[in-house]
Parts: sequence; C-alpha cells; structure tokens
Amino acid sequence: RQRVLSGVQPTGNLHLGNYLGAIRNWVEGQSQYDNFLFIADLHAVTLPHNPAELAKNTYTLAALYLACGLDLTHSTIFVQSHVPAHTELTWLLNCITPLNWLTDMIQFKEKAVKQGENVGVGLLDYPVLMASDILLYEPDKVPVGEDQKQHLELTRDIVNRFNYLFAKPDQPVLKLPEPLIRKEGARVMSLTDGTKKMSKSDPSELSRINLLDSADEIAKKIKKCKTDPTRGLEFDNPERPESNNLLTLYMLLSGKTKEEVTTECQDMGWGQFKPLLTETVINALKPIQEKYQAIMDDRGYLESVLRHGKHKAEAVANQTLAKVKAAMGYSTPL
Ligand code: TYM
Repeated sequence: RQRVLSGVQPTGNLHLGNYLGAIRNWVEGQSQYDNFLFIADLHAVTLPHNPAELAKNTYTLAALYLACGLDLTHSTIFVQSHVPAHTELTWLLNCITPLNWLTDMIQFKEKAVKQGENVGVGLLDYPVLMASDILLYEPDKVPVGEDQKQHLELTRDIVNRFNYLFAKPDQPVLKLPEPLIRKEGARVMSLTDGTKKMSKSDPSELSRINLLDSADEIAKKIKKCKTDPTRGLEFDNPERPESNNLLTLYMLLSGKTKEEVTTECQDMGWGQFKPLLTETVINALKPIQEKYQAIMDDRGYLESVLRHGKHKAEAVANQTLAKVKAAMGYSTPL
C-alpha cells in the first residue's frame, strides 16, 4: 500500500480552499493509501501568533479532519509538535540546504515583504521544516493545493542533495516524494477578487467561506461576492476569473460534472446562480458542521485520537531519523 502524508496549519479558520485543495482529496483517496495527516502547529509560529489560541486551534483542526470524513482505520492523525523528530531532522537538513534555495521561495518573499522588519528565521526555514515533515514518513504522495508546489520541489532537491552527499549510489537514504495536485480545486480563488487565491490571511472575511460559517454568513458572502456584467456563466475564460471560480465551487460541492454544470449554467444570470450556489455550499458543509460539533463535545475522544496518532507517527519518524543520523556519521546515543 502506498503512503500519503500531508498537513494543514492551525491558523485561523479552515476555508473552502483548504477543503477542496487538500482535505477533501485526502478523504476521497484514503482507503487506497496508508495516510499520515498532521496538524502543522510548528509552522503556525513562523508568523506572529497568539499563544492563547494555539492549542485551541490545534484541537479545532483535528476535529475538522475527522468531521470531513477521515477515519482512523486508514489514517493516522497527529500533532506535529508532539513528534520531536520533525524539529530534529530540520536541523540536520538545514545544514545541507543552501541559503539561496530558501531566499528564492515565492511564499517567503511574499510573506517577508508583508512582515517588514519582523521576519523571523523560522519564516525563512519553513520549507526545510516542511521537507522534514514529509521525508520522515517516506510517503509516495503528498496531496496539496497548487500553492505548495514549490515547497515540494525544494523537498525533492533536498533529497537529491542529501543522497548525493551521504548515501551510497543506488541505496538512497531519503525517499523522493511526489506532489499530488488535483486539477480542479487546487487553486480556489477569493470571493472578492477572482485573480487572488482564497487565503486565511486576507484581511477581508468576505473573501473566503470558512467550513464553520453559519448559513447566514455563507448567504451574505455569496450575495456580496464579486461577479461581472456578462450574462451566462462559463468555465475557463481568462477574462472571467470569477465566473470560472464560482462555477468550479458549484461543480465540486454539488458533485456534478463539468459538462452538466456548463449546460445548466450557460444561460443563467448571476441573480439566478447565486441562490443555487448558496444552497449547494450550505448543504455540503452542513454534515461536516454537525459532525464537528459532536466531536468537539467529546474532548476525551479527540485526545485519545491524537495520543494514538502520536505513537504511530513517532514509530515511523524515529526510524527514518535514525537512518539519517547513521548516514551522516553520528555516534549512537548511549
Ligand atoms: P496551509 O495550512 O496554508 O494550507 C493547507 C492546504 O490547503 C491548500 N490551500 C489551497 N488549495 C486550494 N486553493 C486555495 N486557495 C488554497 N489555500 C490553501 C494548501 O495548498 C495546503 O495543501 N506548508 C503547508 C502545511 C504543511 C504541509 C507539510 C503540507 C506543513 N508541512 C508537509 C504538506 C506536507 C501550509 O501552510 O498549508
């Protein structure tokens, strides 16, 4: 059985981009794979964070993973900071990663500009931590949204460099992972600007639909979302990014095919489409929200899931870490 690894940061609310770009794909593929899915709480401190929220957001996200349909027969769910091997491997990989590989990362450049003087070393090092997250579990596939593609490429570069430096030819120590980026949903766009991706860090709440938004909030956001003056909706017209984005949301959340949606919506005006999309989003999120509430009401259960996940994850991660340290020539701890 092939292995999958992925994670989401526990920062703020989970939105439709996170769901459609990542979590839904984990759920859909889960029975084919052996899945390691974690809450990336070490990544959540690379930008200034609120200590009063971190643990709470970690539990919320774990509950959402389960509410979205991850099940424990196929998936190991754990918290990144509970498995110290992640930080330890990061140090070892830091020492073989050229600085300019990190200063060249698009996300670093974008986030660093926004942070101004306040850029911590962690923000620069973030992709090496991400590489460690992945490599410890030796996954075949890493299902992510489009915005993580460059980080996966860096991970592959680090693997090749590590193996070149420390492995015998034909006996790689680190395993090359493949990104798994679905065409549809890999880049969900903002509701207020169809050329920008939907993001947790957009200051406008109207730009995103969160998985835990109430029906009223969803209705309001769709009512106010950006459209264009053209009648009839269409996919894939670069002049009409909002049309493409909203139709894609409708397609993915209704379960209809692209052809069905094209036929259904090609003559619709926005006034007819918006209520349809609203109803579809509300209906798609309702079962997730109900399940989420039930799980949050049972804290003991959630703790047991994460405790169990930590043990299973640690067993795998520690083995890889030991292999890496041996290849680098470390003495065995006494
Ligand atoms: P994060 O927390 O920003 O996002 C979680 C997942 O959601 C996807 N995503 C989107 N997909 C489609 N449209 C969007 N608008 C959109 N916004 C976000 C992301 O691509 C991601 O798959 N660095 C990662 C977390 C991480 C990780 C890892 C992932 C840490 N270590 C190891 C995979 C493997 C991040 O910040 O994702």
